[in-house]
Amino acid sequence: MAKPHRCFSPHLAGVAATFLISVLHGPLAAADDEPPPWPICGPYPPSGNYTQNSTYRANIDLLSATLPRNASLSPALYATGDVGDVPDIVYGQALCRGDVANASACEACVAAAFRGARRACPLYKDVIIFYDLCQLRFSNRNFFLDDDYLVTTYTLLRSRVVGTPAFDAAVGLLLNATADHAVEDSSRRFGTGEEGFDDRRNPKIYALAQCAPEKTADVCRSCLNVIIGQLPNSFRGRTGGGMFGVWCNFRYEVYPFFPGRPLVQLPRFVERPPASAPPVTGGEEKKRNSAGKVLAILMPTIAVILAIAVVYFFCWRKRRPEEDAYLPYDIQHIDSLLLDLATLRIATDDFDNSKMLGKGGFGMVYKGVLPDGEEIAVKRLGQTSRQGIGELKSELVLVAKLHHKNLVRLVGVCLEEQEKILVYEYMPNRSLDMILFDSEKNKELDWGKRFKIINGIARGLQYLHEDSQLKIVHRDLKASNILLDVDYNPKISDFGLAKIFGGDQSEDVTRRIAGT
Ligand SMILES: *[C@@H]1O[C@H](CO)[C@@H](O)[C@H](O)[C@H]1NC(C)=O
Ligand SMILES: *[C@@H]1O[C@H](CO)[C@@H](O)[C@H](O)[C@H]1NC(C)=O
Ligand SMILES: *[C@@H]1O[C@H](CO)[C@@H](O)[C@H](O)[C@H]1NC(C)=O
Ligand SMILES: *[C@@H]1O[C@H](CO)[C@@H](O)[C@H](O)[C@H]1NC(C)=O
Ligand SMILES: *[C@@H]1O[C@H](CO)[C@@H](O)[C@H](O)[C@H]1NC(C)=O
Repeated sequence: MAKPHRCFSPHLAGVAATFLISVLHGPLAAADDEPPPWPICGPYPPSGNYTQNSTYRANIDLLSATLPRNASLSPALYATGDVGDVPDIVYGQALCRGDVANASACEACVAAAFRGARRACPLYKDVIIFYDLCQLRFSNRNFFLDDDYLVTTYTLLRSRVVGTPAFDAAVGLLLNATADHAVEDSSRRFGTGEEGFDDRRNPKIYALAQCAPEKTADVCRSCLNVIIGQLPNSFRGRTGGGMFGVWCNFRYEVYPFFPGRPLVQLPRFVERPPASAPPVTGGEEKKRNSAGKVLAILMPTIAVILAIAVVYFFCWRKRRPEEDAYLPYDIQHIDSLLLDLATLRIATDDFDNSKMLGKGGFGMVYKGVLPDGEEIAVKRLGQTSRQGIGELKSELVLVAKLHHKNLVRLVGVCLEEQEKILVYEYMPNRSLDMILFDSEKNKELDWGKRFKIINGIARGLQYLHEDSQLKIVHRDLKASNILLDVDYNPKISDFGLAKIFGGDQSEDVTRRIAGT
């Protein structure tokens, strides 16, 4: 057996040895498989520590008094909230696994996560902790901003290895299919899967993927693509593992780690023959024999080459696990934003007058329903744009990347047949002016709601002015541009339009009067 050269860490030697042994004698169980909880104490950038008996600590306790129950009562098993005021404000997020047995199991898991966070990360202001059945984050930072959506993940690596490329390929296939299921599940963003694998020790592979249910299909997809994309780097040959983040996670094992029937069932994995080899004919039996022979000849060679590669790989690429945790941001393409005109025509009954929600300076707004059931507001713009389509597209990509709970979300755009259409999430409580200036409805707005609305608008503006990637000055902020969701959370609308549709409006100084 080859000895690892130039590599003096006993741990790395151990990894290499485990790998070699497993190639020659089958998988070994090793000791460093961590059971949950999987905590991340103080993700980057550090938020610092609170002190015993502080207001911050009291606010965490207040959060822990309601967040577990709120998550368990929500149909998506998901809750967010914040408690207290700056500088002691605590933002919280709790998510239970899509297949948790019942509401009380969810509530109990999140409550346990609060206790576990205190044990695992005492005094940390910002903690993410993952359990089998739930995850929890609390932080002094408003991490709901998009900038955070992929940054921090916990990587679970099973040290048991099988070391066959076929196994890795089977895992990739299963995780992709499971992720597809999660992306398409618009209410829970959750998928589980199972796949047969031709190996006596590992007859089946099981997988799970989930996104925070508030994320759109596109965001869920890009989030999962990035973490599943780490398979070849970090999970090669491993019989199990996972990456857990605030907005999405996946996990796979060679044993069933979730109850019940998997939502995706793949047939036994069959390795595709290499493209250069002529197709083998003459029945299943022959195919398997010849594959067996090729493998018998290749295996020792592959084992040695792989072993050397692995030793070098680990020597060269030795990094602290925390560094592995910071992934690059995903790049969102315009393609994922483009909606076709036919879909929008169907969604709005061909822009029927009965679907009209309102008329704005830029054009008509219609209510629509996408095929997946998502309610949308469709804004059909007049011919006011002075920009070319290319420039418009690149600006729209930037605007679509602005995510904040006090900004209306841009679902997509359509730029076909001279049409310029923007599609937003639908806001059931319409705009603030319709309530504020209606003598009946404005009675619904008590001072608590008014304060919440004012606060939310301020937060949205702060994001546009200071925290977002684009610095945007709205210049047309008025009650009719403040939309309200079911809980009267305010969302600023039309925020990107000022920048996009006015040619000179990105300059620092402007002397023209714009907006209202
Ligand atoms: C916070 O507390 C932990 C121990 O609970 C300690 O390891 C860490 O260094 C502290 N961080 C700061 C910034 O004081
Ligand atoms: C926190 O409060 C408790 C009870 O009021 C007290 O016994 C303890 O000494 C305090 N701890 C600190 C660090 O102030
Ligand atoms: C939990 O839900 C209740 C009722 O909707 C709400 O008042 C409370 O603020 C929520 N808790 C948190 C931490 O957001
Ligand atoms: C909820 O599920 C747990 C775990 O399966 C079970 O022990 C408990 O009895 C269930 N509770 C209810 C109210 O169904
Ligand atoms: C899984 O999907 C990614 C991206 O969508 C692709 O690059 C990869 O080849 C797929 N893996 C398998 C095994 O199908």
